[in-house]
Amino acid sequence: MLGSKTDPRDLYIAQVVAGKTFVDVGDLWGMVNEKVTVAAKAGAARTAMLDITPLDRPLWQAFRERRASRGVSDCQLLSASIDEPGLERRVGQFDVVHCSGVLYRCPNPLHTLSQLARISRVLTSILVLLPASWMIFSCVTTVGLAKVYQLRYIHSRLQLEALVQQIPAHTLPRDTVLAPVHLEENSVSRVGTFAWAGTLDRLLFGVFEISWSATPACQVVYARPDLRVITTHRWANGLHFTGFHDSSERCEPGDVEIELEGQPVCSSRLLAFTYQDQKVILANPLILAYPDGRRIEVALPLAVSLVQSGVPGSPLEIHWRAAP
Ligand SMILES: C[S@@+](CC[C@H](N)C(=O)[O-])C[C@H]1O[C@@H](n2cnc3c(N)ncnc32)[C@H](O)[C@@H]1O
Repeated sequence: MLGSKTDPRDLYIAQVVAGKTFVDVGDLWGMVNEKVTVAAKAGAARTAMLDITPLDRPLWQAFRERRASRGVSDCQLLSASIDEPGLERRVGQFDVVHCSGVLYRCPNPLHTLSQLARISRVLTSILVLLPASWMIFSCVTTVGLAKVYQLRYIHSRLQLEALVQQIPAHTLPRDTVLAPVHLEENSVSRVGTFAWAGTLDRLLFGVFEISWSATPACQVVYARPDLRVITTHRWANGLHFTGFHDSSERCEPGDVEIELEGQPVCSSRLLAFTYQDQKVILANPLILAYPDGRRIEVALPLAVSLVQSGVPGSPLEIHWRAAP
């Protein structure tokens, strides 16, 4: 047998694969965890590697070399996404399907799981993550995890849709900075499908909780590459201001400059908002609260005009923190 004598996946594959067809889904990257050579050495009747990587990429050549070094010549090479509709018609079905390190990259893990089932001749032969005695636990956990991911994804979509619907692109001047403040982020915990969903949800960040997801997401839904989002996640207890200047050379006359999480923004460019009960509520005004009890009310001109046109607005407070 080739493969680790202690890796439970290798042991499981060795137990079940002899005389069976085997496909390894998404195992090209890194070339250290691929199971095609393990299955071939354990007597698989036929093996295949299915990965989203295009066939002309060096990873496939590295895979050929790895197989050659292990004396495994035959293997069907399939360049496809596991999420592709009708995949089972293109690639057929396999007795044993191995897939690890892929689900968390897929936008809809429940769909991906059902795709894995479609290319599997017998549903129970899907080997997602861990086999043997951990198998049942692993399947339940994986489905649960996929469910929480899906709910998180739906919640993020609702937030984005509410934003675009209530505040259409033409109302945002060039280089507007969006600042989500204290967004309602507990949709998954509320559903309570799984007892531990709330705990898991706390570990997953929504689209508006990480700048590198929030900014591109807003740029895409608004089709506006000039938009920027300054954000922070729940663990940081909401968005903070880290500086305030009555006037600034960077801003227009009459503007104030607020530093949010260390990033300077002119008040005329800023739109701060919260999200509750599927509605976006604009900060109108934005209140800067210092630790010594001082509070500064900042009128954000964009919010003022949007509120006049009917978008909900309410005073919204953010707290001071030393610059990061
Ligand atoms: C993080 S690597 C995991 C590699 C390996 N399975 C492991 O656990 O170390 C993800 C692999 O899945 C592939 N992949 C990502 N999305 C995929 C998809 N939708 N369909 C098929 N393969 C995918 C990537 O090309 C890459 O080879």
